[in-house]
Amino acid sequence: MEQKKFYITTPIYYPSDKLHIGHTYCTVATDAMARYKRLCGYDVCFLTGTDEHGQKIETKAKEAGVTPKEFVDKIVEGPQGVKDLWKLMNISNDRFIRTTDDYHVAAVQKIFKKMYDNGDIYKGAYKGKYCTPCESFWTESQLVDGCCPDCGRPVVDAEEEAYFFRLSKYADKVRDLLENTDFLQPRSRVNEMVKNFIDPGLEDLCVSRTSFTWGVPVDFDPGHVVYVWVDALFNYTTALGFLNDKYDDYDHYWPADYHFVGKEIVRFHSIIWPAMLMSMGMPLPKHVFGHGWLLLDGGKMSKSKGNVVDPYILAEKFGVDALRFFLMRTFPFGSDGNFSNELLIQTINTDLANDLGNLLSRTTAMVGKYFGGQLPEGCKSWGAPESFDTDLISMASALRDAYEAQMEACAPHNALSEVFKVIQRANKYIDETAPWALAKDMEANGKRLAHVLYNLLEATRICGILLTPFMPESMDKLFVQIGAGADIQTWDSAAVWGSLSETAAVTKGENLFPRIDMDKAIAELEAAAEAAKKAALPAIEVEPQLTEKVDFDTFCKSDFRAVKVKACENVKKSEKLLKFTLDDGTGTDRQILSGIAKYYKPEDLVGKTLVAIVNLPPRKMMGQESCGMLISAVHTEKGEEKLHLLMVDDAIPAGAKLC
Ligand code: MSP
Repeated sequence: MEQKKFYITTPIYYPSDKLHIGHTYCTVATDAMARYKRLCGYDVCFLTGTDEHGQKIETKAKEAGVTPKEFVDKIVEGPQGVKDLWKLMNISNDRFIRTTDDYHVAAVQKIFKKMYDNGDIYKGAYKGKYCTPCESFWTESQLVDGCCPDCGRPVVDAEEEAYFFRLSKYADKVRDLLENTDFLQPRSRVNEMVKNFIDPGLEDLCVSRTSFTWGVPVDFDPGHVVYVWVDALFNYTTALGFLNDKYDDYDHYWPADYHFVGKEIVRFHSIIWPAMLMSMGMPLPKHVFGHGWLLLDGGKMSKSKGNVVDPYILAEKFGVDALRFFLMRTFPFGSDGNFSNELLIQTINTDLANDLGNLLSRTTAMVGKYFGGQLPEGCKSWGAPESFDTDLISMASALRDAYEAQMEACAPHNALSEVFKVIQRANKYIDETAPWALAKDMEANGKRLAHVLYNLLEATRICGILLTPFMPESMDKLFVQIGAGADIQTWDSAAVWGSLSETAAVTKGENLFPRIDMDKAIAELEAAAEAAKKAALPAIEVEPQLTEKVDFDTFCKSDFRAVKVKACENVKKSEKLLKFTLDDGTGTDRQILSGIAKYYKPEDLVGKTLVAIVNLPPRKMMGQESCGMLISAVHTEKGEEKLHLLMVDDAIPAGAKLC
């Protein structure tokens, strides 16, 4: 029988900034789904990548003083870049597309030409409202309080000669697709799309730009680049080899089974994307799933909050699998959820350390302690089952089907909930059977004890299989501890109670999910976020030089002198001020107050030769007179202000004029 295929994609990410935990959420969800389908025996293709064109990238590159390609290369391929992050998170993508890849660019040009030739793309003039950060044109009626409905930022009036795609022509077909099929999920997103975009009337879409150059050139009309969303959406097909020779499995995998996308880009995937595919005469993807956002303090995650939600910091601190698990377990996939470190730690402690971790460590420890790590032959069927034996066995045996139903409904959080019901049932079974009490009389109860422990190992094995898509590395370790070989880590065996060999070699290994001290971890995370923020700041910054010129006579009016520090002390009640008694060569002591107490200890300055401007009018500070000002060099280092008093050669006598 031909192996069933499954093609799933994540959105391709804008490499304009470092990715945060919100981006990670979508990719981990897609990865869990891809791994689940592979477990079920499907021939899976999982695609992710980067969406590298557009004005936003062009502008950012300019700001950084590099070419757009250099800019995106660093974020995609560089240290802690997009590819690094997916490697760290154990993402099992089969393919990675960059929209700057030559094969994609050439294919997009052919696609654009094809829609032009079939009359669905035509030339016109565009007047509208444009949101630069989102690369989106909006109609007046779509704006919210005059701003971009996606990001809330101001839009600008834009007008340019442009090509248009006849989106309006496909309005009825798209409405039918949304309303009468299960193309768009969850169902609630259908109403949003129809009400907000189709009911008001679909307008033709502007699909080329002339105001910038960082995009796929329209090859038959120089000066135009293809609208970034047209370029981006077709990645799902070019990455399979559509209109290019780089790959050769378009016919095999297309149409996609699922595009997983965040809710703000559902519009592009459920209206524009199917319309363009219809125009091209290509089959439509089977499903688009619009997931919710991870929010931070109820709001959108942003660069300024970036360090708090840096997946690198979180993965290093808590482990990749714990982080993957948390994301999938905690937030219902179709809805928004509030991310917090407290919630992350709580979930790890409750589900992983307490429930799963305890089940595994107690079970393997008891098999070790009472049976030297190997249960006796025959233990699977020893003894008349009590009601709690039957209960555990029937729950664990039915688990795979319950889990499957939830995964098929794109509800990984519910699938995990099913697994944890069995884990909790198994822990309760330990309390009910009290193996430590049975162990007191091995002669009388040894067989019963072996049977109880076998049931626990078997329940753990079944749960372990179903947790593999979420925590692949940890489950590998779990299988080693319970002695389950590859042949009984399979999807089929997850539905067959009793697959584990009775005499499997059981070892109590490392604690897979250590308990986390909440207060300590939060303090460490905050410190790590602060350190990461500092590390990202420029090493040295100096104030820009003044462009305004000063004439020589004015400059000469400033009287700079070498002065020697006779005494120096802190000014009472002031944290900032030091009081200097200075020899300025006149024979009369000069007093200067300077706000540099945080940089110097007074005693370290006595005897030094400094530079002061001595003809400033005296002024009072904290009730004391200051006659002049000491000269310092200032700069910023990793965001922190640094100051050095200007000290000169002690051979220079007090009062020497500096000119
Ligand atoms: N480049 C487009 C996608 C083109 S697909 C043909 C894009 N890129 S993005 O980098 O801005 O976003 C990628 C995905 O990350 C989107 O699905 C977006 O919803 C998701 N997320 C970004 N922040 C998120 C959260 N805070 N929470 C959940 N998902 C979030 O859009």
